Amino acid sequence: MNSLGFGKLIFSFYGKKLPSLYKIQKKGLLAVKVAQHYALRIDFLEEEMCSHLSQLYAHSFSAEERTLSELLEGNTAVLENLASWDEKPFSSASVGQVHRGTLKSGEKVAIKVIRSNFKESFFRDISRIERSVSMIGRIWPKFNKIFDPGGILENIKGYTSRELDLVNEYMDMEKLRSIRDGNLKYFDLKSLDFPRVYKELSSERILVSDYIEGDTFDHLLAEGRLTYENLLELFRVHSFYIFNVGIFHGDIHPGNIILGNDGKLYFLDCAGLSTISPRLRKGLFWFFYYLSRYDYPKAAENLNKMSEKPLDSSSYRIFLEKFMDLYSDFTHATVSQVSLTRRMMETIKLGINSGMDFGSGMFPVIKSLMYLDGMVMRCNPQAVLMEDVRGFTDILLEQFH
Ligand SMILES: Nc1ncnc2c1ncn2[C@@H]1O[C@H](COP(=O)(O)OP(=O)(O)O)[C@@H](O)[C@H]1O
Ligand SMILES: [Mg+2]
Repeated sequence: MNSLGFGKLIFSFYGKKLPSLYKIQKKGLLAVKVAQHYALRIDFLEEEMCSHLSQLYAHSFSAEERTLSELLEGNTAVLENLASWDEKPFSSASVGQVHRGTLKSGEKVAIKVIRSNFKESFFRDISRIERSVSMIGRIWPKFNKIFDPGGILENIKGYTSRELDLVNEYMDMEKLRSIRDGNLKYFDLKSLDFPRVYKELSSERILVSDYIEGDTFDHLLAEGRLTYENLLELFRVHSFYIFNVGIFHGDIHPGNIILGNDGKLYFLDCAGLSTISPRLRKGLFWFFYYLSRYDYPKAAENLNKMSEKPLDSSSYRIFLEKFMDLYSDFTHATVSQVSLTRRMMETIKLGINSGMDFGSGMFPVIKSLMYLDGMVMRCNPQAVLMEDVRGFTDILLEQFH
């Protein structure tokens, strides 16, 4: 994607017409990352646009596959330790591919490899656009002020470079693992696990981990085999990380969770943890606590507490009236009647339009909700999710501080 393409892409998010997702994907990884970024910007885009763009979180590139021998050329450490491997990947995505193999010691492993040429081209694209953006900024400062393309690129560069280094993926997974281990005494996290990583065989470009026998949530959802109980278990575990710890898996996509044949949930692809500030974390917990009890005035009160500057009493009164209106159809509603993500977006938008300020800290939570809500829609659209998670809020409350 060149600078013109970048400019056009950003403008397309502000138009009335929904842009073609196919065309965005064809523009390459950077375009997809930019669109994914905008999918969360409910603070200034229409909710319909955000929902549309959020579909790009589930996309998968038809990447040019390579054989494992080609990719591992010269990497004797890994090849020497493998007894056998599949040349063809069993999963191939934007930046890398995953192969099955068996170590000489007998363990079955998954070998994730980043295609080497990737990093340079991605960063070359970014620097080219960054140069044009700063030039445009000199001629037309308002453009940069309104759209902040420099800030967006900087942000994308930050987390993509983390993703492109598999050492980060390993370290982030270990962080989630250590949080689990440190909390086992206080909270039942026994159902959660992570594949063991062979650190000595892994590097920036290669991650060798135990092959987990089972199916991804995505696969199970597609075949109609994921039970609602499995999904609720994911909610329970993930909620603990969000609300009680404030550090959580930043990409809880159904392709990144395996239901093992042993019945456990395995989190994969952990690069890029999300965090939430204590103020938002606490406010959001109580917001959901009361929402799941259909106590709308209390939920509204806690939304206001999440704002950096809470509303004064007269603005609050006007806000509350609109809030009650927004939630007038919520009690006992199934997820297909009221989408939780959509309602959350409308809620945040209402808060912002009424004068609240949540900073950018809400985006990772919205992203998580998009995924979780999407999974319930595919698994059990008749569920009254709010009533089913109500019990979790009591369990979480026992360890809440
Ligand atoms: N340790 C593993 N055991 C079994 N399957 C795995 C393992 N690691 C990855 N996979 C499979 O490969 C897919 C892609 O792996 P992932 O780490 O999510 O990479 P990507 O960054 O390409 O999304 C997963 O959806 C899963 O099906
Ligand atoms: Mg993945």
